[in-house]
Amino acid sequence: MSKKVLVTGGTGYIGSHTIIDLIENGFTPISVDNGVNSMASILDQVSSITGITVEHYNIDLCDFAKTEQIFKEHEITGVIHFAALKAVGESVEQPLRYFKNNIDSLLTVLELSQKYQVKAFIFSSSCTVYGDVLSSPVTEETPMQEAASPYGRTKQIGEQIISDTLAHQNKLKAVLLRYFNPAGAHTSGLLGEAPSTPAANLVPVITETAIGKRESMSIFGTDYDTRDGSCIRDYIHVMDLAHAHTLALQHILSGKQDQPVDIYNLGIGQGATVLEVIKAFEETTQIKLNYQIAPRRPGDIMAIFANYDKAKEKLGWNPKYKIQDIMRTAWVWEQKRTKL
Ligand code: UD1
Repeated sequence: MSKKVLVTGGTGYIGSHTIIDLIENGFTPISVDNGVNSMASILDQVSSITGITVEHYNIDLCDFAKTEQIFKEHEITGVIHFAALKAVGESVEQPLRYFKNNIDSLLTVLELSQKYQVKAFIFSSSCTVYGDVLSSPVTEETPMQEAASPYGRTKQIGEQIISDTLAHQNKLKAVLLRYFNPAGAHTSGLLGEAPSTPAANLVPVITETAIGKRESMSIFGTDYDTRDGSCIRDYIHVMDLAHAHTLALQHILSGKQDQPVDIYNLGIGQGATVLEVIKAFEETTQIKLNYQIAPRRPGDIMAIFANYDKAKEKLGWNPKYKIQDIMRTAWVWEQKRTKL
């Protein structure tokens, strides 16, 4: 029988793409989301792509009793915990909301995973846990610096909660996945990022500018000590990222993980500057972007990109998409999304 995997944040950007990858690899995903930054109708798109209707619960994970109901109704083998608030700037303005939501929901899901004998727990972490690193590429052993935002701190604390909780038991195993900069959309053009609040991340800001939802966009700083003065990040295609979750799950379920908690960086190992990303968009789509140079954005770090050797060696993960693929798929999706 196909194994059931609870995907929290299942209607969100990375959650919905991971649901597709899980289905393609023989799992039965169950989605839960409170819809605070996504719409349940995104699962119709998932259904068009896979031919499968995913069972979905519109529940807030801070509600323990309601969440427990899902674990009672289904025999859950694995949990992939995406659900969280994720806007860096907003977290600076509303730190308590971020701590309450991101920590409380994690505690609920982790406690229930133990209680109902789930075997694998995959946690959405972020390269933000490294803080303002001195040099890149960063490995999983690179020491963490002070988090640059309350959002980043919720990820650091989340990782610690999982490690402490699982340290002295051997039933539930966890993987912490540290994402670099997820971007792009499903290659079908039927699914992509559909935030209900205005986009703040670079790639959706680019596509929204290109389609005319914004008159122009800003490049936050060209006075950094980088090859062209703009910040460097490691942009990873969302489908490559999604597949890493399936691999991490399979790794645990096949008994290959010895320690209670393991950590993997997920990036492509190459940094791109903001100006290079813009150029890649313009070259891929033949559309000229209207942008201006603006002051640095508070909380931004200068440069970070991944060493992902560990995910490659232990999980067999090989990201296959390039920045051009990210731009092409994001642009196809932006045009489709506008018509939905
Ligand atoms: C940050 C976090 C990441 C988190 C993500 C969630 C770090 C290192 N990364 O990503 O972990 O998951 O937020 O939102 O803390 N930019 C512009 N103009 C724009 C938008 C962005 O120039 O309109 C620039 C930014 O200054 C930055 C780069 O583009 O240099 C990427 O920004 P963004 O897409 O917002 O992601 P991060 O801030 O890197």
